[in-house]
Amino acid sequence: MKLVAGNSNRPLAEAIAAYLNIPLAKCSVRRFADMEIFVEILENVRGEDVFVIQSTSYPANDHLMELLIMIDALRRASAKRITAVVPYFGYARQDRKAGPRTPISAKLVANIIEQAGADRVLTVDLHAGQIQGFFDIPTDNLYAQPVMVEDIKKNFKIDKLMVVSPDVGGVVRARGLAKRFDAPLAIIDKRRERAGESEVMNVIGEVEGYSCILVDDIVDSGGTLCNAVDALLKGGATDVSAYITHGVLSGGAVARISSSEMNSLVITDSLLPTEAVRVAQNVRVLTIAPLLGEAIARTSGEKSVSSLFD
Ligand code: R5P
Repeated sequence: MKLVAGNSNRPLAEAIAAYLNIPLAKCSVRRFADMEIFVEILENVRGEDVFVIQSTSYPANDHLMELLIMIDALRRASAKRITAVVPYFGYARQDRKAGPRTPISAKLVANIIEQAGADRVLTVDLHAGQIQGFFDIPTDNLYAQPVMVEDIKKNFKIDKLMVVSPDVGGVVRARGLAKRFDAPLAIIDKRRERAGESEVMNVIGEVEGYSCILVDDIVDSGGTLCNAVDALLKGGATDVSAYITHGVLSGGAVARISSSEMNSLVITDSLLPTEAVRVAQNVRVLTIAPLLGEAIARTSGEKSVSSLFD
């Protein structure tokens, strides 16, 4: 087995390599003067089972292109099997035609990863489970929830816990977490009554007296999250925290979250944490390196990965 890492999240790739006790393969990813990407795999991969670790995170286009070019280089170097390990799968939010003449970028990206020569995909918490079906190659969609469950057990009183989905689309994910603690579930229904008016947040469920945990796949601008926190506190929640797999946290999101009433935001290292994340008082990062490392070991050993979902 060989592990190859792109530039999107070297610390995560190194942590996965440490878990598996094998070094990252020597590989150089450089730029031509005009910023085109040039990849050179600096060791023999002929006949190897190769795992390319690369999140298609900001700058998404560069990191995606880097992944594609690495896969192409590996295919032309006669790797036996190439697995694209994409801890954060970007472009996933455009997963259906949301309006006339709009793209389905998640499908387009799935097509080009396949076309580049990937034989398998390993990813974490896809924005929508159905995106798995956008690929015609075996695709494992791992869940960060088991990692979060352990952290919640350590940090919360389970008997006063309420799990909350910040929008209707995330109910299945939130219900899954609620079931693990036998906790009640609330849902936030966002509505914009008229164009140009701000969204109204209706809390479905009685949150008064509960310690609320918001769960979602992505926190980007932090708008969804901070509005949800305000609505829950207004509804009488004693405190609100959030567990969100992919900390995209664009622009001033961390500052917005730091100055909110949220107790804590817990994300994973599927994306490289920025300096703002590292210094934020109420943001913590859980590692998914052992989860990915174990999934890679089992894939390579042709063993089941389904027990990692428990
Ligand atoms: C939306 O469907 C996603 O699950 C997230 O709720 C959304 O991407 C969060 O975006 P933001 O942080 O910009 O509100």
